[in-house]
Amino acid sequence: MDMDQLKRQAAARALEEVRDGMQLGLGTGSTAKHFVELLGERVRAGLKVIGVPTSEATRADATRCGVPLTTLDEIDHLDITVDGADEIDPELNLIKGGGGALLREKIVAAASDRMIVIADESKWVQTLGRFPLPVEVIPFGLGATRRAIEKAFAQCGVSGQMAVRKAKDGHVFVTDGGHWIVDAQLERIADPPGLAGALSTIPGVVEHGLFIGLASSAVLAGGEGIRVIER
Ligand code: A5P
Repeated sequence: MDMDQLKRQAAARALEEVRDGMQLGLGTGSTAKHFVELLGERVRAGLKVIGVPTSEATRADATRCGVPLTTLDEIDHLDITVDGADEIDPELNLIKGGGGALLREKIVAAASDRMIVIADESKWVQTLGRFPLPVEVIPFGLGATRRAIEKAFAQCGVSGQMAVRKAKDGHVFVTDGGHWIVDAQLERIADPPGLAGALSTIPGVVEHGLFIGLASSAVLAGGEGIRVIER
């Protein structure tokens, strides 16, 4: 079975948790896109839900699929957020932000009663870090911010190359919030909560891709079937 079919299977399994009247966080990325498309089919068949998108790309997908949208200013909580991830560890800590939407993804996940992560099995790891860790930064004073990030890495016993993310056209990648992303190739993050805390104290860091204690369950689709891991 190809990867895209596995992603769609994981999305379909998460959709089984959705009930009439729910307020949903809509994730970003190729797996979350399957969820939005499948949700759209259910909405067209009469399901009543409302969604908050985690990116402009997801806003466009949801609109195209007929999923009604709102904002976190108009509603006071979300029942479930369904989103993908770049890496998932056995504590359900995540690396996210490969698609650059980590800031809105984290705001939406934190406003949700439950976060269901959907992925193919390749995202499951024993230790986070092989996937480059995205750190969303303010362009102003980037040199100082990078040095502070390096110091935080050293305090947490990790090190690795950092690079400002480029878009396909070769220009600097700019997030939906107008910020830049530094990707850090760390290989192995022994203490994800410790590193998350250290990065969060740096003034030029807007957000980072470590999602600690946010995911309530993970739906992993693989050749052998679907595995659901609860936290
Ligand atoms: C978007 O910023 C990311 O956090 C995505 O959720 C993550 O990169 C997973 O994307 P895929 O489902 O495309 O692998």
